[in-house]
Amino acid sequence: MSHRWQNTHSNYNQELVRGVVLAGGLGSRLDPITRIINKHLLPVYDKPMIYYPIQTLVNAGIEDIMIVTGGRNAGDFLRLLGNGREFGLKHLDYTYQEGEGGIAEALDLARHFSEGEQLCVMLGDNIIERNVVAAVNAFREQEQGARILLKEVPDPGRYGVPRFESGRIVAIEEKPERPPSSYAVTGIYLFDGTVFDRIAKLERSARGELEITDVNNSYIADGSMQWEELEGWWTDAGTVDGLLRASQLVAETGANHL
Ligand code: DAU
Repeated sequence: MSHRWQNTHSNYNQELVRGVVLAGGLGSRLDPITRIINKHLLPVYDKPMIYYPIQTLVNAGIEDIMIVTGGRNAGDFLRLLGNGREFGLKHLDYTYQEGEGGIAEALDLARHFSEGEQLCVMLGDNIIERNVVAAVNAFREQEQGARILLKEVPDPGRYGVPRFESGRIVAIEEKPERPPSSYAVTGIYLFDGTVFDRIAKLERSARGELEITDVNNSYIADGSMQWEELEGWWTDAGTVDGLLRASQLVAETGANHL
């Protein structure tokens, strides 16, 4: 099996899309494994978890990437990744999230980095088999609004779940007891520069977090959300079962195929 940890799609002259990997939070669902080690530094088969989302962004032709770290071992990200040479990058940006105030709070730390450009945001514990080149290119053409990637799953209640009406998403529900569809909203989000104004208007959820699902619902409310289905396998390695499954899937088929 071969992995390609280099940028092979670096010749885009189109709209600049910047990448953000969210690797904050405390990973408490993996306690005690994460009591000492940051979740995103844990091994997934033969690489630290955070390698996979970074490689996904690089494979999509994205060269400007910010890592939002947090919790434990923040300095180790720098020691591990440096300026991203292993991924064919010239530079990586870093910032630090204090506490675990939610995915949208972590994303808000990339406000200055984004400079109003389109963003491809990826959760640090999401691992995919193939690539998101087509979705990122479609988003470049779309120019404004947002775009999400969905995956049909046997257990949608663990994720953000879209409710459809006539093929359009009319709402996303976060971890619903009665899922309105069999799709999960994967942790790969394409947002235009309005995302930070939308985050600024959010209120904290019952669990005290700024929810990415509320950001998505804000785009849905003004009719500017597009979606597509992610091809190949997808896994969220943020639970004990998910972490095991991620290693098994990578061992069997490899990840980030171009
Ligand atoms: O994996 C996809 C799912 O991710 C989506 O379907 C859900 O809508 C979305 O809310 C999210 O759900 P999780 O419960 O899996 O999110 P979790 O709290 O595990 O956080 C996922 C990643 O986001 C984590 O690996 C790092 C980043 N994060 C999370 C929090 C809470 C941060 O950077 N800071 C944070 O404060």
